[in-house]
This record gives sequence, structure tokens and C-alpha cells, in this order.
Amino acid sequence: MFQNRQVTRWILLAALLLLSALSAILLQQAQSLRPAPPALSTPVETSYSTEPILPIPLEIPLDNNKVALGERLFQDTRLSSNNQTSCYSCHNLAAGGADRRRHLRTGQQDYGMTNTLTVFNASFNYKIGWDGRFASVLDHLDDPVNNPSALGSTWEEIVARLAQVPEYKQSFRQMYPDGLNVTTLKDALTVYQESLYTPNSRFDQFLRGNKAALTATEQAGYDLFKSYGCVSCHQGVNVGGNLFQRFGVMGDYFADRGDITPADLGRFNATQDEADRHVFRVPSLRNVALTAPYFHDGSAQTLEQAITIMGTYQLGRSLSETEVDQIAQFLRSLTGEYQGKSLEE
Ligand code: HEC
Ligand code: HEC
Repeated sequence: MFQNRQVTRWILLAALLLLSALSAILLQQAQSLRPAPPALSTPVETSYSTEPILPIPLEIPLDNNKVALGERLFQDTRLSSNNQTSCYSCHNLAAGGADRRRHLRTGQQDYGMTNTLTVFNASFNYKIGWDGRFASVLDHLDDPVNNPSALGSTWEEIVARLAQVPEYKQSFRQMYPDGLNVTTLKDALTVYQESLYTPNSRFDQFLRGNKAALTATEQAGYDLFKSYGCVSCHQGVNVGGNLFQRFGVMGDYFADRGDITPADLGRFNATQDEADRHVFRVPSLRNVALTAPYFHDGSAQTLEQAITIMGTYQLGRSLSETEVDQIAQFLRSLTGEYQGKSLEE
């Protein structure tokens, strides 16, 4: 009886092992058969389909008239209550789509405490804002428009003001059956933001198969970026922008920096969930060479400083000067083109 049970157990165990081995093999096969995720609207080329970073599509079809209208709105100070500020005031395309300031002011509870994020490639991010509170660039628009630190306005006020400008009334009527209203205004601004993509960086050329597009040092930097695990957080088409992660995984960044502000709480501000304290949407590293200073608090002056801090607090690794330099050179190869012209300075 006892022996029989023992035997049955062994047979069961062997069967289980066999089953799990079989399913592991099947799973592996299924995974190798599964096609790589497509790079948005462009077809996947096999040369980069195994890489954790995807190139930005070279061309995204958009209505050029709406793009031009959205661009005018983006630069128009009539969107602000004091008629002095536009989106462009903080998102200067000649300054990497941001403003090069640490942050707008100090001692405030609102987003005036965070470093300006770039508008370039923002529409590829799966959530918008440092704390990822917004679902899309469309969903985010209310924030800069209403926020007293930005435009301090209301949509109704803006529509009323723009309705006084014959050119706007005419353009909207030509492009939208409903003419100028809150919905069409938001749409034009959204289409314009979707046009702010920066393809064809040297790194993307490398991904598309031109191995000579990167120097040996830049390739060494990319290898470190992958082998040290930066890529576990900074990945996909935007080299970031598709995950939430804590700032300070391997050390307490905030205790070391001191002087904690409400903005430092990150996603906690949106969810009130303890697990979200100091959690941020991982930022995109596209064109990162152009958008110093770095981090939500604008505390890192140089790319090298930011990389060193990432090594310490996200990976628990003290990077050597050579490694930091190699990674910095790789990150500089992520600077792309806007409307066919390199953003490189
Ligand atoms: C006074 C400066 C200021 C103005 C004006 C301003 N922004 Fe911003 N913008 C910021 C700051 C600061 C952030 C980061 C906010 C945060 O998430 O904490 C930001 C974030 C963004 C983002 C998020 C990007 C990402 O990666 O998630 C987008 C998109 C954006 N702004 C678009 C606009 C648009 C469109 C307008 C005009 C309607 C505008 N901004 C006006 C300062 C400004
Ligand atoms: C565990 C996830 C994680 C890892 C690993 C990681 N990062 Fe980050 N990275 C983040 C988060 C989150 C932020 C935003 C922090 C903040 O400002 O609040 C960030 C910010 C950055 C920034 C600043 C971007 C900007 O626009 O301000 C750079 C540069 C950067 N990381 C590079 C790297 C490099 C290089 C490595 C590897 C050495 C790395 N990161 C590893 C999550 C990560």
C-alpha cells in the first residue's frame, strides 16, 4: 500500500515534469513564431526587430492644413489669459521642445515645480506628464490651458477671443464642418503635436541596418545601456515613455537630495496609493542631449551627471568616467530630425 502510493507519486511527478518541459518547448516555439511588435505605421524590418528600441517612423500621414493651423495656435499668446504666454514660451522647438529652465518656480504645489518635458515625440508616450496622469496629448491639453502656472485660461475664453480673428474663423470653417469650437480647437492642437516627431537619428539609421551610422564608442555605449539594464526601463520607440518606475530603486534619491517638494511624490499625487510614492513615468531619451537640465526636479545640469545618478539610484552601480562617457555619446546619437532637418546644434 505504502509502496504503491510512493510509485504513483513518482509517476505523477515524472508526468508533471514531462508536461512542463513540453509546454516550455511549445512556449518557446510560440514566442519565436510571434512577430515583433510593429513600429507604428511603418513595416517591420528584420534588422532591428530583435532590438529593444525601435526607430521612429520616417513618415506619419497627417493633414498638413491642420498641422499648420495647430502650429499657429501653439505659438499664439491669445491662448493665455494675460495675452503674454503661448505653448511655445515653454516648448521652444529650437531648444529641444522645452525651455532649458530648471523649473518655473519654487515653493508652489502645482506643476510649476517640475522641469518642462519636451513636446517632441510626446504623442508616442503611453501616458503624459512626469507622473503620467494624462492618457494622451489630447487628454493633457486642459492642464496647460487651465493651469495658472501656464496659460491660466479657459477654452470658452479662448474660443471667444479667436472668434474675433477672421483668419482663424475662416481656417476652421475650411477644415472642420463645425467651424471653430472647443473640440476643433483641441483637435488642431493635437494634430500639430502629432506632427512633432523626430525620425532618422543616427541611432535609428543604425537600427535600420546602417552599422556605420554609429562610432565604435557610441556602439560601446549602446552595449552598456543594454547590458547594465538601462534598457529595462528606457525602451521602445521613445527609449522610455512606456512604463512607470520608482526614482530610487537601489537607493533613497530623495533623502540624499533633501528638501522634498510635493512634485517629488510623483504618481502618488494622482493615485494617493503609497506604492506610487516617488514613482514617475520613465521619460523618453529621444533628443535628450538637447533638453538639459534633467529629471523632474531639473537637478542634473549635464547628461553625464544624469547618467551617473541613474547608475547609482536605479541600478546600484557606480559607473566609471569612461562608461558614463560612452553612454553619453550613445544618447547623443538619439538626436533626430524635425521636418527633414537635424535638431543637432
Ligand atoms: C509655463 C510653461 C508651460 C506652458 C505655457 C506650456 N507647458 Fe507644456 N509643460 C510644461 C511643464 C512644466 C511640463 C511638465 C509638467 C508635468 O508633468 O509635471 C509640460 C508638459 C507638457 C507635455 C507632456 C510631454 C510628455 O512627455 O508627457 C506636453 C505634451 C505639453 N506640455 C504640451 C503643451 C501645450 C500643447 C501647451 C499649450 C497649450 C503647453 N504645453 C504649455 C510647461 C509649459
Ligand atoms: C528602474 C528604471 C530605470 C533604470 C534601470 C534607468 N532609468 Fe533612467 N530614468 C528612470 C526614471 C523613472 C526617470 C525619471 C526620474 C525623475 O526625474 O523623476 C529616469 C530619467 C533618466 C534621465 C533623465 C531624462 C530627462 O529628460 O530628464 C536620463 C538621461 C536617464 N534616465 C538615463 C538612464 C541611463 C543611462 C540608465 C542606465 C545607466 C538609466 N537611465 C536606467 C528610470 C530608469
